[in-house]
Amino acid sequence: MKSFIVLALCVAVAIAAPATPDGDAQIVKYESDNIGVDGYSYSVGTSNGINLSENGVVKNPGTEGEALEVRGEFSYTGNDGVLYLVRYVANEFGFQPEGDHLPKAV
Ligand SMILES: *[C@@H]1O[C@H](CO)[C@@H](O)[C@H](O)[C@H]1NC(C)=O
Repeated sequence: MKSFIVLALCVAVAIAAPATPDGDAQIVKYESDNIGVDGYSYSVGTSNGINLSENGVVKNPGTEGEALEVRGEFSYTGNDGVLYLVRYVANEFGFQPEGDHLPKAV
């Protein structure tokens, strides 16, 4: 009986383990444009299907209203098979994410 339980546990663990664990994911795409001034942008893709990209600009440089504005998005396919996409703006008004699965601001 004991050995059956151990075997059943081993089978359960083997079934639950993904073919390629996310910890082994590789970066398959990387682009960066950043000279340290005048904005930046980058994008990354991973072998386990995560994409992200972001760019930042300084608005109203040299004025009292100077602020960094960042726009970006990331996407991945969840364990439920659904593609999750989040687009966001981050600026003087805070971090503002949007996605079909997120509650809408009112
Ligand atoms: C990520 O980008 C690749 C290449 O553009 C695309 O084929 C893939 O569908 C994207 N995956 C997600 C989760 O957006």
